[in-house]
Amino acid sequence: MYEAKTSAIHSNAVITAIGTYVPDRILTNADLEKLVDTNDEWIMQRTGIQERRIASDNQFTSDLCFAAVHNMIERYAVTVTDVDYVIVATSTPDAIFPSVASQVQAHFGMNSSGAMDLQAACAGFAAGIQLANGLLLSGAYRKILIIGAETLSKITDYTDRTTCILFGDGAGAFLMEASNDGQGNVIAVHSKTDGAQGHMLYRSSLAPMLGEHPIQTNGLIVQNGREVYRWVVTQVAAGVCELLERSKLTTTDIDWFIPHSANMRIITSLCESTGFSIDQTLTSIRAFGNTSAASIPLAIDEAVKANKIKPGQLMLLYGFGGGLTQAGVVLRWSL
Ligand code: COA
Repeated sequence: MYEAKTSAIHSNAVITAIGTYVPDRILTNADLEKLVDTNDEWIMQRTGIQERRIASDNQFTSDLCFAAVHNMIERYAVTVTDVDYVIVATSTPDAIFPSVASQVQAHFGMNSSGAMDLQAACAGFAAGIQLANGLLLSGAYRKILIIGAETLSKITDYTDRTTCILFGDGAGAFLMEASNDGQGNVIAVHSKTDGAQGHMLYRSSLAPMLGEHPIQTNGLIVQNGREVYRWVVTQVAAGVCELLERSKLTTTDIDWFIPHSANMRIITSLCESTGFSIDQTLTSIRAFGNTSAASIPLAIDEAVKANKIKPGQLMLLYGFGGGLTQAGVVLRWSL
């Protein structure tokens, strides 16, 4: 039925494998109570986060990417040595350069692959799918690996109770290939950025100012939680509706809504204002916290492993966060 209604964009990109990885170490709300003045009840009620995974001191974003791709190879028996392009969406690269994607290329011996990191914060994974779809459609490439991966624990201020309760580490990968019949999985895309609000959520580096706003330069995450919350429930909700419109679908046509797992209270508000039900919404928030670019593939993979998602089903992925930026994709699941 949906095929007759959808003609939003062209696509020849098919998802052929998924893999994920999270570090072993768990940071619970009880652990956080020992670090800052907080408690499990407050965190659960405000965020829905029970625990997060934390990379070890010598484990970096590239290591999480390697593990997620190994997981994908083991489960789907795919080869990656012939990948044409690697895109890693991350805000926590091991180094500014070489990119994490370059390290993935080397680790797996992808001898004729291009590589780049994509920095769109929590919108990064959906932006990566948009980019991969365009590259595959152009005919320039036939096999693209997209990874969303973060070690946010390395840039989290564990003395700031308003941020340290939120963030965790993890990685998720999709393999996307050009189909031979020209039929792809991507149905519609939408992006929107409000750069003037960038100072509301940032990780500083070299510059002491963002636009006209003086910022901290300690390299850690800083946010105005209330303003970010307000932006999500108004602007991001509007963006989700715009993506639905572009896809010519309704919330009841979509089988699964996968918003970025920022926090459960935000997701509940997004559902209320967009018309999605909580039952059709997939998140990775309870067990992994906010893992930025990794949160969407982690949520999808949890549902894949639980046999919830079936081939042919429709899903709406929607990332949002630092920038402030948003990116979403409607796609048909093919695994
Ligand atoms: N534990 C206990 N109390 C806390 C706390 C914590 N971890 N963090 C803040 N508080 C306190 C505040 O100090 C404040 O106390 P006061 O009233 O005595 O001043 C009170 O709780 C309310 O603070 P406020 O900042 O208004 O809380 P909130 O209801 O807005 O919740 C967030 C804080 C961060 C959970 C919420 O703003 C939020 O979810 N924002 C969006 C953040 C986000 O998702 N960012 C990533 C986007 S990708």
